[in-house]
Amino acid sequence: MSNTKKPIGIFDSGIGGTSIFKEIIALLPNENCIYLADSKNAPYGNKSEADILQLSIKNTELLISKGCKLIVVACNTATTNAISYLRANYDVSFIGIEPAIKPAALNTQSKSIGILATKGTLSSHLFHKTTDLYTDGIKVIEQVGEGIVPLIETGLLESDEMKKLLETYLEPMLKQNIDYLVLGCTHYPYLIPMLKKMLPEHVKIIDSGLAVAKQTQAVLATNSLLNTSNAQPAINLYSNGDVDVLNSILENEFSTYYLDF
Ligand code: DGL
Repeated sequence: MSNTKKPIGIFDSGIGGTSIFKEIIALLPNENCIYLADSKNAPYGNKSEADILQLSIKNTELLISKGCKLIVVACNTATTNAISYLRANYDVSFIGIEPAIKPAALNTQSKSIGILATKGTLSSHLFHKTTDLYTDGIKVIEQVGEGIVPLIETGLLESDEMKKLLETYLEPMLKQNIDYLVLGCTHYPYLIPMLKKMLPEHVKIIDSGLAVAKQTQAVLATNSLLNTSNAQPAINLYSNGDVDVLNSILENEFSTYYLDF
């Protein structure tokens, strides 16, 4: 197979990274793609750095064995804890995702921004480095989204339980007058319709999905790896958990399979 026709590999701790997958296939409609939802091991957010690294290695090696030309770590928790190791140890390009602190910090008028992410992301060295770099003189209200990922992974996205969790997590941020809410987990873009109903109109929500897709495009172009073939792309999604939940978040639009990995 020519290198350009090899698939883009994408992985997440579960179904959340499909929010990134959707941005990638919208921007790069010729590309073949393989998505891994490691739902069996979700959530990654409360695991140790060593465990997150081992799981990221397992997913990476599976995608490499399937011939992927580039790997998108569609998980903030895995990116912030494991991407340096992956980049240093595998001979393939990696694209990661980190909470978009920078645009929020540059544009806030109230000098107060909220960030909702997993414990693993908020406690990572990479997150602190980025935050320290851009938030001088700005209040950053960090909130661990404890419990959100398990609800999404069990198909309880639009539940009363979720609404209650979100109310609890938003309250301290609103008290501190945030005007930006940064979504620092790839599961969270699926909450945007609910969040919009709960937040005052002036609070802007930022997620990094489109930026990741653009970065994927740029790196493929730089390495002459963009697929220019007009053939129908092969898009395959694998879950080691409940495939019905994956299908439901994808609105049954794609080919999904159960795979034990
Ligand atoms: N989608 C992962 C992220 O972006 C979820 C983390 C988890 O599994 O806890 O961080």
